[in-house]
Amino acid sequence: MLTPTILTLLFTLASTALAVPHPHAALIKCPLIFDGRIKTRTQLTDFDSSATSLFNPDNVKGSSLKWSQIIQFPERDKGSRFDGCSHKPLEVTIADASVFKTQCGFRRAGLIFSGDKNIGSPASRGVKTLHFSVREDEARGLNLTHEYLNVWHETSDWSANQFSFQTGTIIGQEGSLAKNTFKILSRDNKLIWSTPVEKKEWQNFAITLDFDKNTLNLYYSKGHEPLRSVTQTVPNNNAGEGQYQIGILKKPTGTDDVVNSGYQESGIDEGQIYGGIFIEDSASGCVSL
Ligand SMILES: *[C@@H]1O[C@H](CO)[C@@H](O)[C@H](O)[C@H]1NC(C)=O
Repeated sequence: MLTPTILTLLFTLASTALAVPHPHAALIKCPLIFDGRIKTRTQLTDFDSSATSLFNPDNVKGSSLKWSQIIQFPERDKGSRFDGCSHKPLEVTIADASVFKTQCGFRRAGLIFSGDKNIGSPASRGVKTLHFSVREDEARGLNLTHEYLNVWHETSDWSANQFSFQTGTIIGQEGSLAKNTFKILSRDNKLIWSTPVEKKEWQNFAITLDFDKNTLNLYYSKGHEPLRSVTQTVPNNNAGEGQYQIGILKKPTGTDDVVNSGYQESGIDEGQIYGGIFIEDSASGCVSL
């Protein structure tokens, strides 16, 4: 028989258990500009229509592929630091058919936030912080002999990237930059910071772009640890508006004209897992850690 004392004890235990925070839940503390976190109920086909996708359903990808063929939901993955219980990771994959328009040198698939206009986007003004987490899929490993662009902000006239988050062998910097690292490069392709690619753990990045002062700040953590600042404030030319892109752009080898020519293996099946994608307003100095 349960005495009132035991009942009270059970209720206390139950409410204590409920009060323990979910280990994966870190809260976004600043005003959200674009939320690219994928709700757990999201279906792959949701990425094919502007009515249901958080991203542009038409770009940037091979025209014969739908996003529902490009995106995968990794099994048994609990999500990254800012995904909590209500969001899940996604994986962007590339295949031989990942040729955008006539760019035969590249294999690419890149997500663009649905509200991120090439000119006049709120995410390219003021002070904004892009968050994303990455994890490796051992079954779809990248070939680090190649140069990969994974996350970047490209100017509206497509002449430059204000920053590039990359891995693999950076063409022209083969001797100085290790291939098995994630690298943040400035607008003039100089290394700002790098860290080894982890095989199993989430790696969390936040990049603050001050579009008025032309600076960049970088935050990083592993697993479910809070982000911490890993650079001083770096001067960086953030002019030119444009859009963020998140996915994979694999450059060819053996060419001076990477867009149109060069060598790509056939039978490509590669992927990069992403979680916790969002952009927040850091005008007041706010960054979710
Ligand atoms: C990696 O890419 C290089 C250059 O394209 C190619 O020679 C090599 O076979 C590839 N390695 C694997 C394991 O696919």
